[in-house]
Amino acid sequence: MIRPRLVAGNWKMHTVPESASKLAAEIIQHKSEFGPVEVALFPPFTSLAAVREIVGKSKIRLGGQNMHFESEGAFTGEVSGTMLKASGCSMVILGHSERRLYFGETDQLINLKLEKALEGELIPIFCLGEKLPERQNGKTFEVLERQLAAGLGGLRFDEKQLVIAYEPVWAIGTGVNATPEQAAEAHRFLREKLSTLVGPPVAEKLRILYGGSVNAGVAGALFAEEEIDGALVGGASLKAAEFVEIVKKAK
Ligand code: 13P
Repeated sequence: MIRPRLVAGNWKMHTVPESASKLAAEIIQHKSEFGPVEVALFPPFTSLAAVREIVGKSKIRLGGQNMHFESEGAFTGEVSGTMLKASGCSMVILGHSERRLYFGETDQLINLKLEKALEGELIPIFCLGEKLPERQNGKTFEVLERQLAAGLGGLRFDEKQLVIAYEPVWAIGTGVNATPEQAAEAHRFLREKLSTLVGPPVAEKLRILYGGSVNAGVAGALFAEEEIDGALVGGASLKAAEFVEIVKKAK
């Protein structure tokens, strides 16, 4: 396989250090069953230290759910990429629809954050995806193209430095996942556009994850699509057994 699969757990605003340690330990117990699949955990900031202890020197990656576009400064309440790096993170989720929707993050802001993450050698999982009315009005590709071009504008990276996550907003936390065909169609479109942005050799090797109501029941069908290089899992990543099952389906 030219693109090693990645299954990432976005714990969102769930867990405190104690429950985060427990969840991470339950997942890591199964690491010998993960095969070649890369696994990454994204606890809230306050649980990073606890999860880092558990992950230790295993290959499981640790990541932050967001970051600021400066390294430090008078930005009360913010966390920088430098801080994430020093806390054991090698990845960061950027552009998540919940950040766009509830915290007013724009394509331009996300572009600045992506630039900073790349500069600091944190691998961003750059999220994008259309809302339900946009899909219903036939605007899906237009939205994806805009988010992709604006988010990545002026940036240089290769397939090891960045991951894309297609997360249709209507599928997040709703229990309604995109069908494998819908996801594959969007991934194909994104890869085609990436080709013009970064050139075909890199575009071919960049990983595009699917996110939105992924659970153990639907993971197999999604991963059967060769365009789907893994998953960004929300709710189901809070249940160790189910998350492990999803990882195994990606093998
Ligand atoms: P759910 O898996 O809970 O739908 O969340 C998906 C998501 O937003 C991952 O980033």
